[in-house]
Amino acid sequence: MKEIIGVIGAGTMGAGIAQVAAQAGHAVVLTDTNPEQLLKAQQQINGSLDKLAEKGKINPDEAEQIKQKLKYSTQLSDHSAAGLVIEAIVENLSVKHQVFQQLEQAVSSSCVLASNTSSLSIAAIGSCLNDASRFMGIHFFNPATLMPLVEVIPGVATAAEHTEKIENLIASWNKTVVVCKDTPGFIVNRVARPFYGEALRIYEEGIADFATIDWAMTTIGGFKMGPFTLMDYIGNDINYTVTETVFAAFYYDPRFKPSFTQKRHMEAGFLGRKSGRGFYAYTEGSSLPQPIANPELGKQIFERILVMLINEAADAVFMQVASPSAVDLAMTKGVNYPKGLLAWADELGASWVLEQLEKLFTEYGEDRYRPNPLLRRIAREQSKFIL
Ligand SMILES: NC(=O)c1ccc[n+]([C@@H]2O[C@H](COP(=O)([O-])OP(=O)(O)OC[C@H]3O[C@@H](n4cnc5c(N)ncnc54)[C@H](O)[C@@H]3O)[C@@H](O)[C@H]2O)c1
Repeated sequence: MKEIIGVIGAGTMGAGIAQVAAQAGHAVVLTDTNPEQLLKAQQQINGSLDKLAEKGKINPDEAEQIKQKLKYSTQLSDHSAAGLVIEAIVENLSVKHQVFQQLEQAVSSSCVLASNTSSLSIAAIGSCLNDASRFMGIHFFNPATLMPLVEVIPGVATAAEHTEKIENLIASWNKTVVVCKDTPGFIVNRVARPFYGEALRIYEEGIADFATIDWAMTTIGGFKMGPFTLMDYIGNDINYTVTETVFAAFYYDPRFKPSFTQKRHMEAGFLGRKSGRGFYAYTEGSSLPQPIANPELGKQIFERILVMLINEAADAVFMQVASPSAVDLAMTKGVNYPKGLLAWADELGASWVLEQLEKLFTEYGEDRYRPNPLLRRIAREQSKFIL
């Protein structure tokens, strides 16, 4: 019999994770301190399963069976029979500590405990436990039911056997699992920073406007969405906060420096789609600005952002955050990049990528553009990232 999965926090992420586990055949207990939120989650999950049945993706009996697998509760003690409990509550270390300390008393000694945190350190969350060897990060992406990627993050105290078990378990939920080191932003939220940061910098230098940068990245680069359209989707408040958190967590490495342009948009309440205006206007009657579709300018913009992304991906490998193939999988499955960044570097040639970064570094004299040592090594040896 499949083990029981516990999920704490019935918000955006928790409800999605609970649905994924139930669809994978587990009995699931979803808890939240707020009964209204539990009801909302139940309605959302049932609605989503009904839709899948209507579309013929699952049969109606199956949808009913999955609904029966989910129990909703306000009591943490209802996780007592769980084999794995994933926490997805508010992103606050002391609140997470309170919950995990209570939870540890309620579950069996073999139960694995995990957090879906995006920005806190796994070591810091796990430090409140008597036995942190069974604690790790399991980072789903929003929406959890649709996004295939899950980052599994063992902390310094996590026992390898638990990591391996969870890797296999989550893979059996039809997800793409990458294991990565407990470092700020894990893989995706770290490697993706230049997609936003370098686009904002190009705008701030007056090289191009938002629409032209978005056009360059989609039409020339093949990305599904341009950086400014994407930031408006994510919300400038959320995206700016992630950047600021990663910047501080990396001891203010200039590679991650946040942008005044985005900060001012956030301060002005130009949050993006949700507030009706971000970098673009979304209110009725407003239309999107036209790009300056100059292929030469577009190529220059795309290549500058791409080499910065590749440099960051190389750094994640260089600092042993994850393997080259895990980094590439993470960016294609977690944020839909058209190609793995390191496979892209191999295609373009590491020497060419290095040359572009060196030009930027010489031009600006800023540490932000320093080429990664692994990129230098691979260029020098005329080797490849993905062998
Ligand atoms: N939203 C995202 O895109 C996203 C993506 C990946 C990871 N995360 C992470 O997932 C976690 C949850 O984020 P979210 O966006 O789902 O938040 P949310 O605000 O939508 O939901 C949080 C839920 O936790 C409940 N809660 C708060 N304190 C609680 C407690 N002490 N005990 C039980 N329940 C409690 C709240 O009632 C709420 O229903 C955070 O750690 C966040 O960093 C979020």
